[in-house]
Amino acid sequence: MAWYKEWFGQDYLELYSHRDVDEAERHADFVERVLVGDDGDAPRPNAVLDLACGAGRHTQALRARGYRTLGLDLSLTLLTQPPPFPKVAGDIRELPFADASFDWVLNFFTSFGYFDNERENFRVLEEIARVLAPGGRFLIDLFNREPVIAGLVPSETRELDGGVAEIERWFDDETDRVNKRIRILTGGRERTFVESVRAYSEPEVSIGLRWAGLERDRLFGDFDGAAFGPESDRLILVGHRPGANRR
Ligand SMILES: C[S@@+](CC[C@H](N)C(=O)[O-])C[C@H]1O[C@@H](n2cnc3c(N)ncnc32)[C@H](O)[C@@H]1O
Repeated sequence: MAWYKEWFGQDYLELYSHRDVDEAERHADFVERVLVGDDGDAPRPNAVLDLACGAGRHTQALRARGYRTLGLDLSLTLLTQPPPFPKVAGDIRELPFADASFDWVLNFFTSFGYFDNERENFRVLEEIARVLAPGGRFLIDLFNREPVIAGLVPSETRELDGGVAEIERWFDDETDRVNKRIRILTGGRERTFVESVRAYSEPEVSIGLRWAGLERDRLFGDFDGAAFGPESDRLILVGHRPGANRR
């Protein structure tokens, strides 16, 4: 079974528990600053898609601010975490929505580059373009490949509630992917997962966006709004679907 169908369950939630609601609130602040603007004069979106929403932390943060946001994810375990939020189960390569359904599509926390080949990964960009209304905006938040590859910690043990997680990390330069093997031992049980993400560079993603019919407007290196550069923490791409006034 594909790694992303196995890994995003209860163990993922525990290992990544620091990726929490407080962080999602900071991301929502950034979205408001960048997509709405400080003067707040940009029209508010009618519909927002939180693409690969996981347990819905961004969906909820945005809804609490009055943005009509829907989450989509493949993991039923994550989608059914409390508290409930508006969501749809589905695959990011084949979104179950009509063309031009959304004014904003937001993709947080490295939820891109999971598939084995460019065709499938870029298919996600095509789907973003399809479900965005002309003039609609997108945000894609990825890791910045060079510092991540340079800083990979080959092995680590982390304490968990009632056990440990042993994590191995490596970069495969043939497939250009950052890989992790995660062995979890809790409650007398052992299970192993893999995480494998294509380490896209900024020009590669930008070409993919253009190929999909999207236009990139701005690049950021973190959620404080710093410009993207070689040392940046994140690669955050913001742009729009051409064809009408920005939404
Ligand atoms: C790193 S998590 C990020 C979740 C969420 N955006 C957040 O910031 O908490 C990646 C998410 O992508 C989802 N995912 C992986 N493959 C998917 C697919 N093919 N279609 C839809 N969602 C997928 C996972 O289930 C998981 O929730």
